[in-house]
Amino acid sequence: MQVISGIRPTGNLHLGNYFGAVRSFIEMQDKYQCMFFIADWHSLTTHPKPDNIRENVRTILAEYMACGIDPRKAPIYVQSDVPEVLELYLYLNMNAYLGEMERCTTFKEKARKQPDNVNAGLLTYPTLMAADVLAHRAEKVPVGKDQEQNMEMMRHYARRFNQIYGVDFFPEPQNYSLAERAIKVPGLDGSGKMGKSEGNCIYLIDEPNQIKKKVMKAVTDSGPAEPNQAKPEVIQNLFTFMEIVSSKETYDFYNERWNDCSIRYGDMKKQLVEDIVKFTDPIREKIKEYSADRALLDKVAAEGAEVARESARKTVEEVRHIIGFR
Ligand code: TRP
Repeated sequence: MQVISGIRPTGNLHLGNYFGAVRSFIEMQDKYQCMFFIADWHSLTTHPKPDNIRENVRTILAEYMACGIDPRKAPIYVQSDVPEVLELYLYLNMNAYLGEMERCTTFKEKARKQPDNVNAGLLTYPTLMAADVLAHRAEKVPVGKDQEQNMEMMRHYARRFNQIYGVDFFPEPQNYSLAERAIKVPGLDGSGKMGKSEGNCIYLIDEPNQIKKKVMKAVTDSGPAEPNQAKPEVIQNLFTFMEIVSSKETYDFYNERWNDCSIRYGDMKKQLVEDIVKFTDPIREKIKEYSADRALLDKVAAEGAEVARESARKTVEEVRHIIGFR
């Protein structure tokens, strides 16, 4: 296995996710031997009593597949379907030190956010993440900026294991930077970025009338006062959005209207709605189709688990041998 990435089960995919990570995943599955998995164990670190975890997992599967992740090219599995990972998690934890784990900024931040639940799983989040990847001896991990420290820890653990047991067994997994490849989708509420915590998302599952409502509400200003003026941020956001989902002709048309001060934001927004709907329409249809087909989703997850278990089983067997268990 060359590439693996974990997906946190946090709600529906929005356009920011699509142009941030999902598009890169789709490209990668043609270039590398990839596997993707849904990190449902990790979600227990913050949500000890998840409601409907299995249903959420199905939704994620349906949405990623609808975007173009093809399980025939890149198996998708659910973390909790692969118990082999836990044995590796245990071995890695034996050589992970309290000090270094407490110093992780993600740990410190989560501990601050949930002071009543600073659990051991939260502390050992990076070793579980390392086990996810090292179980397949994967070399590359597509990650955003927020995961860089976890990746750093993962390389420490791989190196440390090799050193302690005098082997050259685990590769040190490298970051495949999603941030460098991402197209940043702006928020339409005047904030720079579309994000779940910003509450300004257009979801892939949104119906055309919901998309329309969200776009028509987008923040604008009173219009340009003189020709060829620089665009204020909220207007630039609209144009950036158009650059992402519309044709170049459409973009140029509205850009000219901006430059000669004849722009009508209402028209521009209507066009934007049309182009977003055109983009999300086929994806939304497929999400609905796959979501309704439980048998298909369960089959994809079962087949993914089979591949992942076999791969992790081999690794764990060798690890047992290296440490000295028989
Ligand atoms: N920590 C990742 C996130 O929050 C999810 C994740 C879990 C992951 N295990 C992984 C990502 C292994 C890459 C590789 O997004």
